Amino acid sequence: MTVYRLINKLDYDEAVEFLGEAKTPIAGLRGRRAHKAFCRYALSSKDAIFIVATNKNRIVGFSITIINWKIFWKTFFLKNIPLFFEMIFVKLIQKIKIDKNRNNLKPNQEIDRFLTQKKLDRSWKDSSPLIAKVLYVAVKDSYRKQGIGKALYDYRNQILKKKGIKRLDSKINYRNIAPIKLAYNEGRMIIREDSGMLFTSLDFE
Ligand SMILES: CC(C)(COP(=O)(O)OP(=O)(O)OC[C@H]1O[C@@H](n2cnc3c(N)ncnc32)[C@H](O)[C@@H]1OP(=O)(O)O)[C@@H](O)C(=O)NCCC(=O)NCCS
Repeated sequence: MTVYRLINKLDYDEAVEFLGEAKTPIAGLRGRRAHKAFCRYALSSKDAIFIVATNKNRIVGFSITIINWKIFWKTFFLKNIPLFFEMIFVKLIQKIKIDKNRNNLKPNQEIDRFLTQKKLDRSWKDSSPLIAKVLYVAVKDSYRKQGIGKALYDYRNQILKKKGIKRLDSKINYRNIAPIKLAYNEGRMIIREDSGMLFTSLDFE
């Protein structure tokens, strides 16, 4: 049976391993130092909603959502200055790659059917104590397509609503169909940005 719960200190080592295995981006960084620093900080921050799915006491999936995104990262990098410089370097490289590929984007009919038609008056840059943003979600290979991703989302949304969060945003790579379906199925608005990334947004009542 799969159990869904918030992470705790005893999960630290296993969570660091899993974040590495899933190549989880921590503000663009994917190395072990970033994963360790992130797990340490997330365990003490009320603004990191770090949920795990466990089966036979092993972590088989996780979902990480951040409230008050800009303040969260400012505090994280103040505590981890070397990672800040690494992040700036990685972002620069990423920007060069995105600018190079911008003109090669092709329409993708498989994705287009999930897109919202109207224009959105919001963007990924918005940040406040009432907005939560998805950092990453992952399920171990052998546990996929069994509804664990959806259950992690449902559990996360319950927590966010209890905390009085009004909006949930995420960014998804347009080639990654599973999280696009998850976002679409929970009624999120989805638009495609110039970079090809999808921006999704959901309002809570
Ligand atoms: C995204 C991920 C967490 C989904 O987990 P999951 O437990 O397999 O998700 P679910 O079983 O709840 O399925 C969710 C939906 O996606 C669909 N789906 C899942 N994997 C799919 C795939 N490979 N291709 C097409 N659809 C897929 C399911 O059919 C379901 O849609 P439906 O309800 O309309 O049938 C998992 O695929 C994963 O870990 N991917 C690698 C990490 C990643 O890309 N994370 C997202 C970062 S934005």
